[in-house]
Amino acid sequence: MSKYDFKDEEIKLDPKKYIVSKTDKYGIITFCNDYFVEISKYDRLRLIGSPHSILRHPDMPKIIFKLMWDRIQSGKNIIAVVKNLANNGQYYWVMTDFETTLDPITNKPIAYTAYRKAAPKNAVDIIEPIYKELIEIEKYGSIQESEVYLKKILDLKNHTYDTFIDEITNNKGLVKIFFKTMKKLFKLSS
Ligand SMILES: Cc1cc2nc3c(=O)[nH]c(=O)nc-3n(C[C@H](O)[C@H](O)[C@H](O)COP(=O)(O)O)c2cc1C
Repeated sequence: MSKYDFKDEEIKLDPKKYIVSKTDKYGIITFCNDYFVEISKYDRLRLIGSPHSILRHPDMPKIIFKLMWDRIQSGKNIIAVVKNLANNGQYYWVMTDFETTLDPITNKPIAYTAYRKAAPKNAVDIIEPIYKELIEIEKYGSIQESEVYLKKILDLKNHTYDTFIDEITNNKGLVKIFFKTMKKLFKLSS
């Protein structure tokens, strides 16, 4: 069986499980929980020490990662809806919540943790066509053009990036509690 036998098949995530990884300040993976290893279809040893872009799916626009890095480098959180590529060619959609660890002396980022759960279908249905448009722009234009286009879409919807993501992922009561609990459980177990 080749790695491409599963190409373009979706992996359905267990809605009760969460995927956690930690990186250094450059985005090099330093830790992944068991569910991360299981879903990514990589060996843990292959993951540790690799850049997190090992999971990058070509359907993900560059601008989303730029927004993400800008935000976490300044120590703030961001929720991103991300399509990831597993080692066997399958893909899976997650919503990711970040935490930045700051050096207590310099106050600069030294590590990042990402907590992920299955992205709601509704969020994927809404964001997938937007990502397709952004990818198209990035194919021929610059990342700045992609950023301007994303802002235009959000302005038309009367949203900022955060309010839009909160709305489509229904990130209010239950989802917020889920992430909070996930972080607590993870810290208790590590
Ligand atoms: C904590 C953390 C988690 C990340 N998780 C993912 C991820 O699940 N999938 C992904 O494609 N990129 C993830 N990234 C972003 C990658 O580091 C990288 O910026 C992105 O894959 C784009 O890669 P490229 O700049 O080489 O195109 C993560 C970064 C950090 C710091």
